[in-house]
Amino acid sequence: KEILLQVFFFFFFFTGCGGTKLFRTPANINHLRVCVNTEGDCYINNGENYAGSMSVTKSGKSCQYWKSNFPHRIQEFNVTQLKLPENFCRNPDKSNQGPWCFTRDPTVRREACSVPKCGEAVVPPPRPPTVKPEEHYLKTKDCLDGNGETYTGDMFVTLGGRTCLQWSAAEVQAFIKGKELLPQVQLVKNHCRNPDGDMEGPWCYVKGAGGNITIDYCDLELCDAPLDKFVDESGGRERTTLEDKRKAFFNLRSFGNGEQECGVRPMFEKVNKEDKNEKELLMSYTGSRIVGGDEAEVASQVMLYKRSPQELLCGASLISDEWILTAAHCILYPPWNKNFTINDIFVRLGKHSRTKYERGTEKIVAIDEIIVHPKYNWKENLNRDIALLHMKKPVVFTNEIHPVCLPTKNIAKNLMFAGYKGRVTGWGNLRESWSSNPTNLPSVLQQIHLPIVDQSICRNSTSVIITDNMFCAGYQPDDTKRGDACEGDSGGPFVMKSPTDKRWYQIGIVSWGEGCDRDGKYGFYTHLFRMRCWMKKVIDKTGSADEE
Ligand SMILES: *[C@@H]1O[C@H](CO)[C@@H](O)[C@H](O)[C@H]1NC(C)=O
Ligand SMILES: *[C@@H]1O[C@H](CO)[C@@H](O)[C@H](O)[C@H]1NC(C)=O
Ligand SMILES: *[C@@H]1O[C@H](CO)[C@@H](O)[C@H](O)[C@H]1NC(C)=O
Ligand SMILES: *[C@@H]1O[C@H](CO)[C@@H](O)[C@H](O)[C@H]1NC(C)=O
Repeated sequence: KEILLQVFFFFFFFTGCGGTKLFRTPANINHLRVCVNTEGDCYINNGENYAGSMSVTKSGKSCQYWKSNFPHRIQEFNVTQLKLPENFCRNPDKSNQGPWCFTRDPTVRREACSVPKCGEAVVPPPRPPTVKPEEHYLKTKDCLDGNGETYTGDMFVTLGGRTCLQWSAAEVQAFIKGKELLPQVQLVKNHCRNPDGDMEGPWCYVKGAGGNITIDYCDLELCDAPLDKFVDESGGRERTTLEDKRKAFFNLRSFGNGEQECGVRPMFEKVNKEDKNEKELLMSYTGSRIVGGDEAEVASQVMLYKRSPQELLCGASLISDEWILTAAHCILYPPWNKNFTINDIFVRLGKHSRTKYERGTEKIVAIDEIIVHPKYNWKENLNRDIALLHMKKPVVFTNEIHPVCLPTKNIAKNLMFAGYKGRVTGWGNLRESWSSNPTNLPSVLQQIHLPIVDQSICRNSTSVIITDNMFCAGYQPDDTKRGDACEGDSGGPFVMKSPTDKRWYQIGIVSWGEGCDRDGKYGFYTHLFRMRCWMKKVIDKTGSADEE
């Protein structure tokens, strides 16, 4: 039995060392012996035959999955044809550096692996940082408590590199006048402050590119607080009463129309009709289950399209007759050399079919302004993956073109619970998706219902640092129903239907997820409620205190 086991392991490592594919030269046989003796942990010649499972580079970075396009888009090989496994180091282009991989660091495309050459001294690989996931989230460094309202430092330069204007300047005062500001926040000189409790932390007024005054944030870290901090504050779930008239959050002049009629679809809510699947969502809020179908009817869904060559880039959503919401990575993602300007893209609204031009129902509109969140972090974890697009001309709402509501505090407080389901819509695994092997694309808009997942489970499911500006959704591995977040397209909306006012609210933006990066089991979404203050400030072009 002992001998059988030895023979088994010999062949296991012999194959792992590429022994079946090597020429029998004395040098190769010698190296093969070393390789087998070290249990496959070294490579021979240039490592083309290396078949081990090392997945760390020389500098200690973890390897990207070959089947993934995240963070780097793999265009130089046919990964399927080469059968490149998992994220193991390989040498498909016969590099003389030996086995290598694309790295998980968006700023470093590829790097040689720390696999030693057989017969050479074994240099132990630097270990990738083995921080326990929870430890990322312990209070570290100089982070500010809360939203940084207590900051009293003297920083006066913003993330965009601009110098803050004096709070006392007449032009700044003109913006502040009449706003409800926190009385305890002292506005000193031109120092970064957070007088309106902005969830993104201290900010200040700056002169923008065109000479107009705008706001920008300062490079200060906020300590991460639990996802539903705002839930705890009021001692748990609250029953809300439906207000007779919706209070407008945005300034009508800069936001355009849509806040009053948002989320009431002309073909459904407006005529007192339910779509055939929405019951599943509402029942998830009460703990029951129902199985639904999949063809979608969402009038707020938008296609983000590239001008030349013309192709579908991403999903997006309509939030007023002037503004479109999408993910920042749909606009700006340097690892893919992506940095679109207003002339590179346009949007298509009112669409149902993925490919057909839908005469009479669809509208094609040009963009005249793109605003990417100034703190969007493509270098690490796609934190604050959000961008706003302003349309050149307002659209006219129709049965097929209708805005979705943005979450209010009450909506976030009452609906963002683990197990509550939302709806994700899209035209499938699009060209610009994170996965390198798009499956068959659907011909019409698809939808999937996914439950929100507890933030600690989200954090535990991936090595990526999860922030409060993200939430995750999807089915847990043991759930029978499966959903792949990558099948919903990036930039598209995660919506929920409020059982109280029967309107649809966009809670998240499809950001990154499971099918894209095999480490994570869930899809990750930009937490829209937390981006609300920023949206208001850049849309209204002035600062203001949050409501409620
Ligand atoms: C890659 O190879 C597979 C299998 O040989 C083939 O089906 C597929 O079309 C190839 N893809 C590209 C982009 O060449
Ligand atoms: C500056 O603001 C004025 C008035 O709001 C507006 O008409 C103008 O287009 C703005 N300029 C730029 C470059 O944004
Ligand atoms: C993207 O392009 C703009 C100009 O079109 C440039 O100012 C900006 O620095 C670019 N951003 C990145 C991250 O490359
Ligand atoms: C996180 O994962 C570890 C190991 O995979 C497990 O022991 C732990 O219970 C998990 N924690 C949560 C909150 O799921």
